[in-house]
Amino acid sequence: MQYKFLGNTGVLVSELCFGAMTFGGEGFWGNIGKQQQDEANELVKTAHENGINFYDTANVYSFGKSEQILGQAFRDLGISRNEIFLATKVRGRMSDKLNDIGLSKYHILASVDESLQRLGMDHIDLLYIHGVDAYTPLEETMRALEDTVRSGKVRYLGVSNHAAWQIMKANGFADRMGWNRFVATQLYYTIASRELERELIPMIKDQRLALMPWSPLAGGFLTGKYRRDHTSDGDRRRDAFDFPPIDKEKAYNIIDVMDEIAKEYEVSVAQVAIAWLLHQPAVTSVIIGAKRKDQLLDNIESVTLKMSREALARLDKVSALNPEYPQWMIERQGAGRVPER
Ligand SMILES: NC(=O)c1ccc[n+]([C@@H]2O[C@H](COP(=O)([O-])OP(=O)(O)OC[C@H]3O[C@@H](n4cnc5c(N)ncnc54)[C@H](OP(=O)(O)O)[C@@H]3O)[C@@H](O)[C@H]2O)c1
Repeated sequence: MQYKFLGNTGVLVSELCFGAMTFGGEGFWGNIGKQQQDEANELVKTAHENGINFYDTANVYSFGKSEQILGQAFRDLGISRNEIFLATKVRGRMSDKLNDIGLSKYHILASVDESLQRLGMDHIDLLYIHGVDAYTPLEETMRALEDTVRSGKVRYLGVSNHAAWQIMKANGFADRMGWNRFVATQLYYTIASRELERELIPMIKDQRLALMPWSPLAGGFLTGKYRRDHTSDGDRRRDAFDFPPIDKEKAYNIIDVMDEIAKEYEVSVAQVAIAWLLHQPAVTSVIIGAKRKDQLLDNIESVTLKMSREALARLDKVSALNPEYPQWMIERQGAGRVPER
């Protein structure tokens, strides 16, 4: 396991982050996972023993139960608070109470206190806003986030599921006010969905932000167990909940190439999909999800897979985005700007 700086900060995180979205199984979340304390402890133990120090949850995962189970797992396993880097999120609806949702100051401050209580901790290392709240003024959200840091309840701020311009606008505002800016992003990025290479990744590199891809296997789709001709075995998450959206025809073509490469390196298709992300220079830490120990160990093994230039080129060719304006014009006009020697 390697460790990388979290964007332009001095804190080191493991190149894999353990995602706890499968813990709890409350309501809708039961489609994603139903892992209770014993299974959760086994998964966290495995992650910890393999050098993972970065853990991801959210207030909304199983309406708080994921945070509760994750916090309890660290205590059951005797993993001390200062060995781990813990991220959680705020934004999603937590109950049918009118204001128990969004990025208002009202909800952010309440949500952080509730997350800390469920986690059994006195601070959160990284608090992400989980998505856009189109109804709350940006200034209100940024001030509330600043307050969470100044109060000592949160160490760093992150942003998930936003467009590049929105992140730039928010950080520009924070800079102007002398407040904490977002240092980390959490975005959907897989070999089969490379849309963020258009605007978000150039921005992330320019701003030296951390990038944590979520659902690196597209909810299990990129493991090799989904095939053009496959009929359901009934025990796979995407059978109950077909998310994230994916261009399946394109993904099957990518899986064909990943399959060849997996055979050449004698690894699983899932490892090729995760290792592809680990080979992307903008990526800080890939958030892996697993329901079982064997899946988790398979995914962790991806850190040892170093692919040749030729293998990466084959994967790039089958998964590349179509050229889109203005990128093709920027590249065209940029060519020849500096004379070749
Ligand atoms: N910010 C956001 O909006 C957002 C959104 C989603 C997720 N996340 C974060 O990202 C983390 C990971 O997301 P994810 O769970 O969707 O990740 P994923 O890697 O795309 O999917 C994980 C699922 O794939 C299957 N799987 C995993 N490893 C496998 C393997 N080696 N072989 C075969 N099947 C395997 C399992 O489901 P089955 O066995 O049922 O197939 C597992 O639950 C979450 O825990 C959460 O922390 C964030």
